[in-house]
Amino acid sequence: MAFPKPTSTENDDPWAEVAAAARMLSQRSTPSCATTTAIQSRSSTSPNDPPPNDPKPSTTLPAINTTLFTTVDTLLPFSTATTILDTGCGSGAITSALIAAHGPYIPKSATLLAGDTSAAMLANFRALRDEKLRSQLARDDEARSLWEKIRIERIDAQTLEGVEDGSVSHVLSGHVYFLLEDYDGALRETARVLRAGGVVGMTTGTGSEHLEALEWAVEQVRPETGLRCIKEEWRTREGVEGVVRRAGFEGVEVREVESEMRFGEGEARGLAGILVVIPVVKEVVAGWRAEEKEKLVDLLAEEVERRGGDGRVLKGSNFVTVGRKPSQASAVA
Ligand SMILES: C[S@@+](CC[C@H](N)C(=O)[O-])C[C@H]1O[C@@H](n2cnc3c(N)ncnc32)[C@H](O)[C@@H]1O
Repeated sequence: MAFPKPTSTENDDPWAEVAAAARMLSQRSTPSCATTTAIQSRSSTSPNDPPPNDPKPSTTLPAINTTLFTTVDTLLPFSTATTILDTGCGSGAITSALIAAHGPYIPKSATLLAGDTSAAMLANFRALRDEKLRSQLARDDEARSLWEKIRIERIDAQTLEGVEDGSVSHVLSGHVYFLLEDYDGALRETARVLRAGGVVGMTTGTGSEHLEALEWAVEQVRPETGLRCIKEEWRTREGVEGVVRRAGFEGVEVREVESEMRFGEGEARGLAGILVVIPVVKEVVAGWRAEEKEKLVDLLAEEVERRGGDGRVLKGSNFVTVGRKPSQASAVA
């Protein structure tokens, strides 16, 4: 796979190529953002994870989503939801996992809202919704009624423009806040749209072998570029806790969840081709010569192969973080 050439639409949408990769992969597995779960991923929780809190329907969700949902549900049960916002929804991984795991417990009156700034990601999500509705045509259950009513809209996570103050009970987000330029602003806006006592739950990456391989390969082609895919504050438990508290949240809890990215025989180059179109990398290589970009893909593919070993597994670590907007009483106190 050569270094992908962006089309004019992709130039306007930094996530378009990742969305295209996610679309391709969705034909093989559950759609999700290719940067975090390329090819095939599995994850395992740390020993202090909560036990499943009640008999939810059995699913095969990655542990990171199970941890996200159970931790949020413990703080504010989905059975009390009025509006659930999936911010930076991408191709719909979080909302579809939520429906699969907690659909029957979400009140019929609740609104499901999903927002992203990438037109390509939103198109993927709408296609997934259409597909779900087609495949569940004959069914008349909670899952179908939830899929029917999801509002999939262009919403910037940094401004949440169009989302009213205090109108949301739960904000969920899969691997988004730590990528944002203005993550402090995004969290303040999240607090604005949540009602008093409302809850935010997010997953973020803290480090992974595939990102280390990427940073190493960039350095081989252009020494002293100093690419850091994950900002410092998001790498440690204390850092993440501080960011979320700073926006005014209380009861902040951070759990560590490990993940694995698996790739098949002969797929290392395809994986490298996806990794080099993550926006943070695209920005760095924007002014590079074509041969330097080709060399980056070559070196990265070799490094992915080497680190993956015989099992072709790359390890990663993530945080699941939750926080509650103070109730009016505690805000005044
Ligand atoms: C790593 S992907 C995660 C997608 C999805 N949440 C998932 O779990 O698969 C990051 C997503 O954030 C979106 N994004 C980036 N900046 C954004 C912004 N300012 N507002 C809303 N979405 C944004 C991207 O378009 C992309 O879909």
